[in-house]
Amino acid sequence: MKIALLGKGKTGGRVLELLVQNNIPHTVFDSENHPTLENLKGHDVVISFLSGNIFKEYMTLLLDSKIPVVTGSTGMQWPADFDKKVKEKNTKWIYATNFSLGMNLVHQMILIMKEADSIINNVQYNMLEVHHTKKLDAPSGTALSWKNWLDREVFIKSERIGDVIGIHELRLKTPVEEITLKHEALDRKIFAEGAMYAANKITTLPPGLHLFQDVVQKELLKGR
Ligand SMILES: NC(=O)c1ccc[n+]([C@@H]2O[C@H](COP(=O)([O-])OP(=O)(O)OC[C@H]3O[C@@H](n4cnc5c(N)ncnc54)[C@H](OP(=O)(O)O)[C@@H]3O)[C@@H](O)[C@H]2O)c1
Repeated sequence: MKIALLGKGKTGGRVLELLVQNNIPHTVFDSENHPTLENLKGHDVVISFLSGNIFKEYMTLLLDSKIPVVTGSTGMQWPADFDKKVKEKNTKWIYATNFSLGMNLVHQMILIMKEADSIINNVQYNMLEVHHTKKLDAPSGTALSWKNWLDREVFIKSERIGDVIGIHELRLKTPVEEITLKHEALDRKIFAEGAMYAANKITTLPPGLHLFQDVVQKELLKGR
């Protein structure tokens, strides 16, 4: 498998470390070396950790290349018809706002927390997300995914401090009790490992745009 790595910054740099450590053939594309149809030829999977605004500029090119794409770029909206476009090109894309494999456990926990109002009165939800000061988007893509999974009214507070990789907390509060769910990324390697997991799985998927959580969930719930 030969990887085209788009972005070698804070997160893409950790993917690059894994590629080098595991002797996986790859090419790095960055602000100096832009991807083109010509220089993408011969790659089996694209992994992108570009910021969303830059990734958007390359989406048509990547579709035309027909190479399967794993993307962690955040701060962008997916066009409504994008799944159709990926299918028309007979290729596969996986996206995630958070490639941490542990985040899939959190997903299951949130699906349980959202049911609180069926047994408890006066439930309120609050969320806190903390990231490094260079993060461009707020609330984070992960916080928006949590809100989406929760599917309840929730206030999100964003803080930008030092070099914090990523902290997300969901608090369920009633006048008489409180439950807090916290996920903290301790090392950006978790995103790199998740992206590599996706790159290895992508060829087994049918054509279309796949959410990473859905791909992992199948594995997670296999035994149930
Ligand atoms: N889904 C997840 O699990 C996850 C986890 C962490 C971060 N993210 C997201 O990943 C994205 C990147 O974050 P980051 O902190 O790693 O960013 P970063 O450190 O700023 O790195 C950005 C990279 O983009 C490259 N770049 C800039 N302009 C370019 C262009 N026109 N063409 C090609 N490459 C270009 C830069 O090249 P140079 O090296 O030449 O400067 C750099 O390597 C963000 O959207 C972030 O929110 C997602």
